[in-house]
Amino acid sequence: MELARVFLLVLVFCISSCSSFLLPAQGSLQNHINRKLGHRVSFISQPPSPPPESNSNDAVFDVLSFGAIGDGVTDDTPAFKMAWDAACQAESATLLVPNGYSFMIQSTIFTGPCENGFVFQIEGTLMPPDGPDAWPKNNSRRQWLVFYRINGLTMQGGGLIDGRGEKWWNLPCKPHKGVNGTTLPGPCDSPVALRFFLSSNLTIQGLAIRNSPQFHFRFDNCRNVYVDTITIRAPSLSPNTDGIHIENTDSVRIYNSLISNGDDCISIGSGCYDVDINNITCGPSHGISIGSLGNRNSRACVSNITLSNSVIKHSDNGVRIKTWQGGSGSVSGVKFSNIHMDAVRNPIIIDQFYCLSRACANQTSAVYVSDISYTNIKGTYDVRSPPMHFACSDSVPCTNLTLSDVELLPAQGEIVLDPFCWNAYGASETLTIPPVFCLLDGVPRSVLENDIEQC
Ligand SMILES: *[C@@H]1O[C@H](CO)[C@@H](O)[C@H](O)[C@H]1NC(C)=O
Ligand SMILES: *[C@@H]1O[C@H](CO)[C@@H](O)[C@H](O)[C@H]1NC(C)=O
Ligand SMILES: *[C@@H]1O[C@H](CO)[C@@H](O)[C@H](O)[C@H]1NC(C)=O
Ligand SMILES: *[C@@H]1O[C@H](CO)[C@@H](O)[C@H](O)[C@H]1NC(C)=O
Ligand SMILES: *[C@@H]1O[C@H](CO)[C@@H](O)[C@H](O)[C@H]1NC(C)=O
Ligand SMILES: *[C@@H]1O[C@H](CO)[C@@H](O)[C@H](O)[C@H]1NC(C)=O
Ligand SMILES: *[C@@H]1O[C@H](CO)[C@@H](O)[C@H](O)[C@H]1NC(C)=O
Repeated sequence: MELARVFLLVLVFCISSCSSFLLPAQGSLQNHINRKLGHRVSFISQPPSPPPESNSNDAVFDVLSFGAIGDGVTDDTPAFKMAWDAACQAESATLLVPNGYSFMIQSTIFTGPCENGFVFQIEGTLMPPDGPDAWPKNNSRRQWLVFYRINGLTMQGGGLIDGRGEKWWNLPCKPHKGVNGTTLPGPCDSPVALRFFLSSNLTIQGLAIRNSPQFHFRFDNCRNVYVDTITIRAPSLSPNTDGIHIENTDSVRIYNSLISNGDDCISIGSGCYDVDINNITCGPSHGISIGSLGNRNSRACVSNITLSNSVIKHSDNGVRIKTWQGGSGSVSGVKFSNIHMDAVRNPIIIDQFYCLSRACANQTSAVYVSDISYTNIKGTYDVRSPPMHFACSDSVPCTNLTLSDVELLPAQGEIVLDPFCWNAYGASETLTIPPVFCLLDGVPRSVLENDIEQC
């Protein structure tokens, strides 16, 4: 704390009295950019050349000027790091990844804080090494591009981020990818394509991202995240390729985007609140999920989540809340509205018995699920599962589930399975198709009596 204060004082002092030092430094930066042209860089002896433009704001830092080649083969990591460091330190800088080039970069952590108005403009293609064998042994296999401690960054452009995930999806430790369709045990780390960590005020817009080895985006411990008009694509059989995963992150807006992949389009983990998702087309995929929560007896808190005006098609799930036995905390204040389902297997599902192995013992504690509304959810379901499934824990039932204007018809075939309810309290405010008779009225004793810990 003290150190930070001293640093700040020096900085304030410097801003008010070091301009004669800063100006030559800026000249030097320009020379550094021109290094490709053979200019020598000398921080101290460089005569103060005039600033590059009368307005030194809005500087563009093109990765090509830092020695990036962009032939898809050369390792452009050092050039990107230099370009990042230079752009990060300039006010209103644009770090440009130009169109017409493919840049191969290794797993890298881009660290802030950066100056205000930082734009990462991606017009070309960014790609990692091609698969696990090409991945340097000493690089993290859990993440590719990491943005760390950034406050205020806009990442945008018409470019492509290509995760080249195929060789990772086919590792023998991935489901049914071992010999004769087995799944070999052992660690199976695969990198998240873009991870934002401990960052705030982030805007991601316009980009296309495809074929991540694992999650495409992961935001953890972030605040104020705005995602607009992005496209995420991976094959429906690519394991764990969630589109956008958020955890311990609040004030998130995800709008106007197309996502198809092999796992959840959007997954919302513990510690998220004030999340607004609007106009998403999701599928083929596993749908939009809150959870899984409460794994290994953990406490999870999720609240104030809205999903509206969206389409979910050809997916294993539509809108899902999934929790493990033995967790604690709560999920509350979730509104799903105006959602069109097209041949979705479990359009509406709460599963408090989520379990990936075969043996998850039932436990007395659970993440409490309450105040969940489903409004104007229409379309078709795949008859292999009931269209509505509310499986709530024995000890901590779900409460205040409300349905209105829900109409779900079989995509094919005549079979209309009854909605499934277990310890689910709530009401249909209008007649639904199929009708739901299995919700219980009121609030159960166990919830009234056991002072359930809300978050
Ligand atoms: C990984 O190893 C290479 C060469 O062995 C080295 O140049 C590089 O700095 C190392 N990277 C890290 C992150 O340790
Ligand atoms: C895979 O299946 C084939 C044919 O069933 C069998 O001959 C072979 O031994 C199996 N390989 C292994 C490693 O189990
Ligand atoms: C994020 O931006 C808002 C509004 O521009 C600003 O008030 C806030 O301080 C920023 N967040 C942080 C952590 O600086
Ligand atoms: C919804 O998102 C799509 C895809 O980005 C866009 O084309 C469309 O205009 C958006 N709709 C509205 C009402 O904003
Ligand atoms: C819920 O989140 C929205 C943003 O998505 C925010 O505007 C609103 O104030 C939040 N509501 C509550 C009760 O916190
Ligand atoms: C857990 O409880 C549910 C609901 O009571 C029951 O259907 C399920 O069989 C139980 N699971 C185990 C492993 O005991
Ligand atoms: C039930 O949940 C809705 C939100 O879905 C909320 O507005 C309402 O206040 C809740 N009712 C009670 C009695 O808590």
